[in-house]
Amino acid sequence: MAPDDLQMPAEPGEARCPGPSARDIILADGRPVHPPLVAESPVFLGDADIPYDRYVSPAFFEREMTKLWPRTWQWVCREEHLPEPGDWITYEIGRHAILVVRGEDGQIRAFPNVCMHRGTQLKPPASSGGAAELRCPFHGWSWTLDGQLRHIPCRWDFPHVTDAAFALPRFRVGLWGGFVFVNMDPGAPPLEAQLGPLAEHFTGRWDLSKRRIALHIQKELDTNWKAALEAFLEAYHVYETHAQGLATAGDANACYDIFSAFVTRFVHTIGTPSPHYTVPQTEQDIMDKMRPDGLRVPEGRTARAVLAETLRAEIGADWGVDLSDFSDSEMIDSIEYHLFPNMCLFPGVSLPMVYRFRPLGMDPGRTIFDLLFLRIVPDGTGLALPPEPIPLSADQSYASAPGMNPGLGAVYDQDTGNLAAQYRGFLASVKRGQTLGNYQEARIRRFHLTLDQYLGHD
Ligand code: FES
Ligand SMILES: [Fe+2]
Repeated sequence: MAPDDLQMPAEPGEARCPGPSARDIILADGRPVHPPLVAESPVFLGDADIPYDRYVSPAFFEREMTKLWPRTWQWVCREEHLPEPGDWITYEIGRHAILVVRGEDGQIRAFPNVCMHRGTQLKPPASSGGAAELRCPFHGWSWTLDGQLRHIPCRWDFPHVTDAAFALPRFRVGLWGGFVFVNMDPGAPPLEAQLGPLAEHFTGRWDLSKRRIALHIQKELDTNWKAALEAFLEAYHVYETHAQGLATAGDANACYDIFSAFVTRFVHTIGTPSPHYTVPQTEQDIMDKMRPDGLRVPEGRTARAVLAETLRAEIGADWGVDLSDFSDSEMIDSIEYHLFPNMCLFPGVSLPMVYRFRPLGMDPGRTIFDLLFLRIVPDGTGLALPPEPIPLSADQSYASAPGMNPGLGAVYDQDTGNLAAQYRGFLASVKRGQTLGNYQEARIRRFHLTLDQYLGHD
């Protein structure tokens, strides 16, 4: 059976690409893996189309603004954005604006980024800094770092303003893996309920609190935030969008797992060919395509193992850390978790990304895509301000961002290069929804089902 043949299994969702899966390849590598990496949880969730209205309709966008974003835990920054008391950073999503502050007591708190006098935003959008107090730029009302009313010019004119009623309202804050999460809903379930299995999976060498931001790129995209996210939830597009990588990257044999309503994962291997790639090649041929610098594969070893071993030494020396515990897969594969609603996390070492997709302003067809690379730091490393985000417009190449690997930049250009055309197609289509694969695109369906749980709730 060939990779493109139709299979009619006993049950929908059970068909798989012929040949070894990513999991089979990882188990054959021979080094101990972090056990959650090989956990399996495929789930078939149906095959109905996903209506395009969900992406283009202003009414649907407004429902997300009122029922999703104010009620879900969302990652607003990393702890290293707030290394010292008085450090603050803003977070925007659509019309919502949040001010995140580290207090004198070291606690991180979140407030609406709005003055209690006449509504002026306390800090500009997408800004950060350090301050001894939170002070409005309009008339100078000010609050302490923990949100208590501190000073009102001409207080004699405001006998109706009490300290208690005019403290800054607080949003709930949760910390996990070095990320600061905020939930605007005081009645929402705890962060732990949304993280679910992530808390078990990202332990030990996958603990992201032991990593720091090495590079942060923010790109504007001409599509809906959900379509942008979905482009990164499947490896099905590799065959066409990244055809240059078929000799050295798995795609149709990737593994997809749905661990909870909020957490899903894919794993696709690097250093093994796509099942679509049928040209005979040696392990040295594979290595030559991945590493044109002449790295040799000794007889009896795989390109995958030799690449992982080489990167353990190279990256370990560069970062000043010991990577000997990381399996070949953890070193080189594309291992991506999705945390509902808009965050993706990679526990790997050479592909150590974090993604966030947000509506840009109040336009359903505009998105801001945060792409971060985390690096493992030596034990005991303190918090220090990370590099500033590098802004890219929709038509600027990732390769133009200083510090971005040019080859990886070209891959992200390919990923994001499809999105405007897809969004135009959403608007023009006669067929009114997108059709998903039962296995390879099941994470997208899980995401929409969970979104419906929020939007259907009054
Ligand atoms: S609007 Fe903020 S002090 Fe007047
Ligand atoms: Fe891609």
